Amino acid sequence: MCGIFSYYGKKKNAPEIVIEGLKRLEYRGYDSWGIAYKQDSEIHVHKETGKISEFKVETADFKDSEVSIGEVKEKFTLSIGHSRWATHGRVNKTNSHPHFTEDKDIVLVHNGIFENYSEVKAYLKKKGHKFITETDTEVIAHLIEEHLKTHDFLEAVKMAIKEMEGRFAFVVISKNSNKMVAARKGSPLIIGVKGKEYFIASDIPAFLPHTNKIYYLDDNQLCSIENGEIEFFDMDSFDPIEKRIVEIELDIESAEKGEFPHFMIKEIMEQKDTLNRAINQNEDQILKVADAINKAYGTYVVGCGTAGKVGMVGEFLFSKIAKKHINFSFGSEFTSHKPFLTNKTLMIAISQSGETADTLEAIEAAKEKGVKIVSIVNVESSTMARMSDIVLPIKAGPEKAVASTKATTSQIAIMTLLAYACAGKLYEGKQLLINTASQINDMLNPRYEEHIMGIAKRIQDVESMYIIGRDVNYPIALESAIKLQEVSYIHAEGFAAGELKHGPIALISENTPVIALVSNDEYKKEILSNAMEVKSRGGYIIGVAPENEDVFDFWIRVPDTGNTSPLVNIIPVQILAYQLAVLRKNDPDKPRNLAKSVTVK
Ligand code: G6P
Repeated sequence: MCGIFSYYGKKKNAPEIVIEGLKRLEYRGYDSWGIAYKQDSEIHVHKETGKISEFKVETADFKDSEVSIGEVKEKFTLSIGHSRWATHGRVNKTNSHPHFTEDKDIVLVHNGIFENYSEVKAYLKKKGHKFITETDTEVIAHLIEEHLKTHDFLEAVKMAIKEMEGRFAFVVISKNSNKMVAARKGSPLIIGVKGKEYFIASDIPAFLPHTNKIYYLDDNQLCSIENGEIEFFDMDSFDPIEKRIVEIELDIESAEKGEFPHFMIKEIMEQKDTLNRAINQNEDQILKVADAINKAYGTYVVGCGTAGKVGMVGEFLFSKIAKKHINFSFGSEFTSHKPFLTNKTLMIAISQSGETADTLEAIEAAKEKGVKIVSIVNVESSTMARMSDIVLPIKAGPEKAVASTKATTSQIAIMTLLAYACAGKLYEGKQLLINTASQINDMLNPRYEEHIMGIAKRIQDVESMYIIGRDVNYPIALESAIKLQEVSYIHAEGFAAGELKHGPIALISENTPVIALVSNDEYKKEILSNAMEVKSRGGYIIGVAPENEDVFDFWIRVPDTGNTSPLVNIIPVQILAYQLAVLRKNDPDKPRNLAKSVTVK
């Protein structure tokens, strides 16, 4: 949620470097963007609404801007940038970042929420500060400016942080200093380094074309760069910290679209490989976690959005495979479970980004009670991974499309492995998953896509559609609905098939599409009856199943894989959602109103 990219170094085209970096971060927020850079002891700011990917530096019209994005002639160039997902204040140029004080003494970009900003703003107003936006970010700039009256720039930033509550990350520059200061408290910020050049970004792929050497800025730490040298400090004590440069292995290609028109379809197709990577977990770690689950007095699985649905799938898998009860909670609802936590409780946090604020907050609440944390996470440098006692990395590679696909199936695969390991059958589970991955490999071919396109064309103009499933495929029905909502904008809802007759069936009219997830299990008969009930009321049944059934108007074949049916059932719906988005001329990678990584509560 919101992307930060900043550059400190000797390259003269720093603003362009920042714009290109922001383009690679656009999945984090895309309603507006802006950059600032220092030139002749002045800070110049340029802001735009809309998507930065559509912005071309060469043909840009800077008529109403105070800058022209040309060469910067300073010895070291300081340039900061931001792509926004609006939280405080509407989408317009004024509210987009960078924000600054009246004469641009202090200019900053910020991700997260400054929770007590209104009290601080009231105090600053009394001191004579004038504000031009409703944003919390502008207040940080003024707060630093207030402290500048009695401290130097770095000290003023440190003093300001002391007064700020909430989760945030920011990068700030000042007219009267050559320092660039960055702070991290709960929102991601990573520093790429190449000699005396520094790239400060919300995510690693943003600076990969420049360097794969990084400094991890941890939570509650800040850094200051001046004349090509960087220093790190603890946010509470302000003591200096020594840090090592880490070399990472991510390649640029995996973070680019390649021959695919969109990241979403690229990531759907990658599931052939990503699943195998997920299954190939360190067995000792899996057994260690399984042992911890077996010994725990209560296991809570926590996640948000799609990762939350994976947690629900886990509840069913554990009951089915390991005959074990685990509790699921959305991150945002976790507080109500707090009274039941002890130091014998275990938490499994699931997240693609490892930065989702609600999940992080649930982890914090659990840690306060001594709960041990296991995370199933894609971004291994994330806050969540760093807060966990054990990390099971899903190894899906960068997931750029807002709608999660490959991370989802990898997370489900790991939950399946854990359930089998808890039952003392890790090898059996692994074998089943390996077979499933190879069947998915066969499934993902152009003919399969074409077949699904047939149904996409048939239903592209409907107003509503429903998805039904039972048992472990009930959460998959919910996840299917999320996928369809996110990118097609068709009203889609998932139901436990048995619940249909208790209300939702009233929504069925002539030709309402209903996707039935029919696996070859003990619930098959019941769900087929539920599908028949829908059909009798005019519904159009799309069956996702290993076999064609009389009740289906349209059949999408999936392999019969037993306990891994959630994996094979979600994939055709991911493809359908993608195709509907394309047919309806939506951007599947950057759906309206959403952001990839939700770092606010
Ligand atoms: C956002 C994304 C979803 C994602 C959810 C949780 O809502 O749009 O795709 O499932 O956040 O994100 P996480 O990174 O924790 O998996």
